Amino acid sequence: MTDCQGDEEGGMSPMELYEKLNAQGDQVRSLKSAKAEKAEIDAAIQLLLKLKVNYKQMTGQDYKAGCPPSENLIVSNNGPTADGSDGEDVVDPWNVSASSAKGVDYDKLIVRFGSSKIDKELLDRIEKASGQRPHHFLRRGIFFSHRDMHQILDAYEKHKSFYLYTGRGPSSEAMHVGHLIPFIFTKWLQDAFDIPLVIQMTDDEKYLWKDLTLEECHRFTVENAKDIIACGFDVKKTFIFSDLDYMGASPEFYRNVVKTQKHVTFNQVKGIFGFTDSDCIGKISFPAIQAAPSFSSSFPQIFGGKKDVPCLIPCAIDQDPYFRMTRDVAPRIGLLKPALMHSTFFPALQGAQTKMSASDPNSSIFLTDTPKQIKNKINKHAFSGGKDTVEEHRKYGGNTEVDVSFLYLTFFLEDDEKLEKIREDYTSGALLTGELKKILIETLQPMIAQHQERRKQVTDEIVQQFMTPRPLNFKF
Ligand code: TYM
Repeated sequence: MTDCQGDEEGGMSPMELYEKLNAQGDQVRSLKSAKAEKAEIDAAIQLLLKLKVNYKQMTGQDYKAGCPPSENLIVSNNGPTADGSDGEDVVDPWNVSASSAKGVDYDKLIVRFGSSKIDKELLDRIEKASGQRPHHFLRRGIFFSHRDMHQILDAYEKHKSFYLYTGRGPSSEAMHVGHLIPFIFTKWLQDAFDIPLVIQMTDDEKYLWKDLTLEECHRFTVENAKDIIACGFDVKKTFIFSDLDYMGASPEFYRNVVKTQKHVTFNQVKGIFGFTDSDCIGKISFPAIQAAPSFSSSFPQIFGGKKDVPCLIPCAIDQDPYFRMTRDVAPRIGLLKPALMHSTFFPALQGAQTKMSASDPNSSIFLTDTPKQIKNKINKHAFSGGKDTVEEHRKYGGNTEVDVSFLYLTFFLEDDEKLEKIREDYTSGALLTGELKKILIETLQPMIAQHQERRKQVTDEIVQQFMTPRPLNFKF
C-alpha cells in the first residue's frame, strides 16, 4: 500500500499533497481514538512521515496542518498549529490574546505573518510623497506593519493614484474607541494623498456570525456609518456601502466575489480562518466578499472599469488573514494584490493582553459614553502599572509598558513632548496612578463629546449621500 501511494505523489501539486497530508493526519487520529491495532497505527504514522518528507522536498517548507503551501497563505492563527497552546499570541478576526502583560509581541507577529515593519525609511518616503509630517500613529509605531507600501509610493511618485479601502462589521449600535483607530488614520491618509476611499459595512458578516436579524444588521450599518462619517471624511471622495445592498446592485462586484470563491478551497479557508465542518456555508464563502473591494473593478462608477488602480487597506492586524487570502488569489484572477498598513490594538481597559472589544462592555469605552461613564470606567477598570502604595510608587515608580491609561494616551494625546514628560514622571514615581488617570479622563471626555457633537450633525440624508453609488472626485 505504501509504495503504491508513494508513486501517486509524483504527479501531485503541492496543494494536493498538502490535502493528502491533512487526510492522513485525520486517519492517524481516528485510528488512535478508535484504539486500533498498534501495527495499523504504526503503518499510518509511517505513511504520514513519508508524505511529510515528500512535501518538504516538493515545497521546501515543513508541513503544518492549517498552513497551505502558498507564500501568502502561511500561518493559521486560529487553526490547530497556532491556537495559543504553544505560548504564541493568538491574533485573528475573532480573538486577540497575548501571553505577556505588555500585550501582543508585534515584532514576532511580523515574522509569523510575513509582513514588513514600518521603518524610518518608509516614514521618510511617506513624508516626502505626501508633503505631510507622518501622523502620530505612524511616528509612535501604532501603525507598525505593512505589505507593499513601497510599491504604492513608487506608483504615486510617478503620478499614478491609488485608493483606500477599509471597513466595519456592524455588530451593534455603538462603536468603541478602538474602532476609531483605523478610521482616524484612513482620514489622515485620504487628506495627505488626496485619494478616493471605499468603506465596506459587512452587515452580511455580522448576520452570519451573530444572533442578529438581517434588519438589525442593516440598521447598525446606518448607525455605524454616522460614527464613521463623523470622523470627517470628504463626501466627494468617499463611498460607504452595505454588503446587503451593494452586492445585489453591482454585477462587477459580484463577479469579483465569484472569481475569488473559485480560487480558494474549503481546506484553505479552514486553515486560514479555523472554520470547521459545522460552520454554516455563509461563513465559509464570506472571505471572498471581504476580498472583493480590494479590486478597483468592483467599483466601475468610481474607476470607470479600470482593473489596475492599486488599493491600500488600513486596518488593525486582526483583519490580515482576509487579505493574505486576497493577495494569494489576486494574481491568479489577473488582478492586483492590495497593499496594507496594519495597526496594533487599542487595549481593553483590563490590560493589553487583549483588545478592546464591543462584546465585553466593561472592557470598552463607547463613543456613546457620557463624561461620567468615561470617568467611572477609567477609575474603576483601567489596569494600572503603578505600585500598591503611594510610598512604594514614589520610591520605585510605575510601569508605562503595561499601564492602560498611559497606553491610551499614546493613541490620543497628540503632543509628543507632553507624552514624554508623563512617561518620565510616571516612571520616576513623581506622577501617581490617580493623577495619570485624571489626565486620560480629561483627554477622552472632550474628544468623545466632540465626536458626539459631530455625529449629531450627520443626518439620514447625509448617510444616504455617502452610500449612493456614484463617481468620486479625484485626480489621476
Ligand atoms: P470590525 O468591525 O471588527 O473592526 C473595524 C476596524 O477596527 C479595527 N479594530 C481595532 N483597531 C484597533 N484596536 C482595536 N481594539 C480594534 N478592534 C477593531 C479592525 O481591525 C477594523 O479595521 N470584517 C471587518 C470589517 C471589514 C474590514 C474591511 C475591516 C470589511 N472590510 C477592510 C478592515 C479593512 C470587521 O468586522 O471589522
